[in-house]
Amino acid sequence: MSIWTPDSWRQKPILQQPTWPEAELKNTFGRLKTLPPLVFAGEIETLKASLAKAADGQAFVLQGGDCAEDFSRCNAPAIRETLKVILQMAVVLTYAGNKQVVKIGRMAGQYAKPRSSDTETIGGCTLPSYRGDCVNLPEFTPEARRADPERLLQSYFYSTATLNLLRAYVSGGFADLHRVHVWNKEFVAQSSQGRRYEDIANRIDDALNFMNACGVGPGQLPQLREAEFYTSHEALVLDYEEALTRKDSLSGRWYDCSAHFIWIGERTRQIDGAHLEFFRGVNNPIGVKISSKLEPDELVKMCHVLNPNNEKGRLTLTCRFGKDKVAANLPRLVEKIKSEGLNVLWSCDPMHGNTFTATSGYKTRDFDHIAGEIRDFFAVHKAAGTVPGGVHFELTGDNVTEVKGGGQNIQDHDLGDRYLTNCDPRLNCQQALEMSFQVAEMLRQ
Ligand code: PEP
Ligand code: CO
Repeated sequence: MSIWTPDSWRQKPILQQPTWPEAELKNTFGRLKTLPPLVFAGEIETLKASLAKAADGQAFVLQGGDCAEDFSRCNAPAIRETLKVILQMAVVLTYAGNKQVVKIGRMAGQYAKPRSSDTETIGGCTLPSYRGDCVNLPEFTPEARRADPERLLQSYFYSTATLNLLRAYVSGGFADLHRVHVWNKEFVAQSSQGRRYEDIANRIDDALNFMNACGVGPGQLPQLREAEFYTSHEALVLDYEEALTRKDSLSGRWYDCSAHFIWIGERTRQIDGAHLEFFRGVNNPIGVKISSKLEPDELVKMCHVLNPNNEKGRLTLTCRFGKDKVAANLPRLVEKIKSEGLNVLWSCDPMHGNTFTATSGYKTRDFDHIAGEIRDFFAVHKAAGTVPGGVHFELTGDNVTEVKGGGQNIQDHDLGDRYLTNCDPRLNCQQALEMSFQVAEMLRQ
């Protein structure tokens, strides 16, 4: 294989990139390269070790957040509410599964979106598609849709602001297990899911009181006070990722310091493409989204390119098949990986294969389809004797109406009430919590 450098991807064919104004892009790239990294090699390696445990079934991964983060919603309440719901879900899963839950936000950098078409036409006018806030704006005007390299720089600073607050929350006492009740949001607390959650929270209180009486508190066990929380995004715009790729001074190894975990999307995972080339050289734990379109032999090739040393925790395969395709298509991939002795972490993204347009015109997903895909994912692994190691959701702490169904029974005609996403429909806070109870049930079995 040829020599890898942070820019060797530039020799390969690349998909899903905006058409940037070259001179401006070069200028932004130069500025990004001088800015401090967002995360450090040490943290990245700690996450990788946790993912290795999850691959063995000794931990479970919960990844979630917006489909596309939005600069205009980078504020404390939005960040806090999404963090809260992820912490709540993690409590439910930890309690049920009796194992550590590795929490990864689609946060602090999820600003780039692959699109099915390069352009969009409305009323005879054709403009470039919206590609995420790091590229352009959703408004349908030529100015808004222009790819603006300055937005890459803004992405960096919005990521920094988000990450800074997340770090403060998780190490500053907000994620203290003694606060499990406080995370239960008002509108959720009233619901049956909220009451189920309160029940677990009460039991956690009892356990903490007991431990305290035995002389074991946060002083002895800092894990009770602080949570580990990691960031992730689809590393799509490689100019940005390259600029934040740094050599660790201790180990001499390269890391993409834009996030702890990065993934390759379903549309950019070509074996000879630029994304695989870039990813193979950075030492972060990485993910690849896969679907029923992937053949077993190609998957094996991909694993050899991305994880030549077969390192555990390095490679997550995030399956996004669609509810009707898991049972028929996942087993041959799982069997192949197993027979080749390849180390991967199997995760389930039950969102992206289950999107449809409702009669109201809104792009949506159905709560039961989402739960159904996860159920099939677990069943395949049970049959194969392999490990269902994690789940990957698009969710928000807001009380949005983007996904149909769930305990609130959101209907087609409700979708317009609070449909706020810039891209794909997300589970709202109550649906997300409810989903965690369903996954908890699957983990217990
Ligand atoms: C996403 O995770 O937002 C996404 C675009 O997923 P996929 O690559 O699986 O379609
Ligand atoms: Co999405």
